Amino acid sequence: MTFKPKKIPNHLAIIMDGNGRWAKKRGFPRNYGHKVGIFAVERTIEYCLKYGIKFLTLFAFSTENWKRDKEEIDGIFQLVRNYISENRDKFVGDSVKINYIGTLNPFPEDLVSILEDARRKTEKCDKLTLTLALNYGGRDEILRAINKLIKESHHEVNNELFIKYLDTKNLPDPDIIVRTSGEQRVSNFLLYQMAYSEFYFPKVYWPDFNEREFIKVLKTYQKRDRRYGGVK
Ligand code: IPE
Ligand code: IPE
Ligand code: MG
Repeated sequence: MTFKPKKIPNHLAIIMDGNGRWAKKRGFPRNYGHKVGIFAVERTIEYCLKYGIKFLTLFAFSTENWKRDKEEIDGIFQLVRNYISENRDKFVGDSVKINYIGTLNPFPEDLVSILEDARRKTEKCDKLTLTLALNYGGRDEILRAINKLIKESHHEVNNELFIKYLDTKNLPDPDIIVRTSGEQRVSNFLLYQMAYSEFYFPKVYWPDFNEREFIKVLKTYQKRDRRYGGVK
């Protein structure tokens, strides 16, 4: 299959779901599912570079995920810690720019330093922008933006100004949002930015997401007719 280059999504956003169920099905603890999920992250970055996607945003930890057991949360932090520190030089080599949305300050200090270091070191990279949504919630992002605007004494806000106060200020809106695992809900992801995004809900659990599944995302996107409220 050849892809019409114009129809490759510019920004792909993924709700990486199903790690726990993937592990449970195999009799492993939930954190093993998160661990194997990291390989799917690595593969997906490779596919984005290969097929020419410029922006990849991954939902890694939501503002609601603090409700989980401490053991699971700590396990996820440890995986992010290892993943970012072990891959920092590879990101630079592949020209992958690291970016975050959400508020990092509730995370352990050493994790925040690792994250900030990767962001700094990849600042000039321009092949792919990889945004990790960490302690991210769409409602939280919108409310933080509003409170910042109030603090700066704005009396009237339009879309152009508002989007500059969102965590995604340097990102285009997602063209397609994919949620793995068969769940068909948004779970507080990119609420403002998804106004005209396409949606796709493959059944596959995140650790099983592979190139075949990635190509299905591209093919699905290519079949969609985006009208933005107009008539063609
Ligand atoms: C997604 O997998 C990863 C995170 C939320 C960090 P889940 O952990 O939600 O897996 P399921 O949905 O319980 O299978
Ligand atoms: C959404 O998945 C958050 C991430 C993928 C990080 P959840 O598994 O937390 O969402 P719900 O609880 O099924 O809505
Ligand atoms: Mg889940």
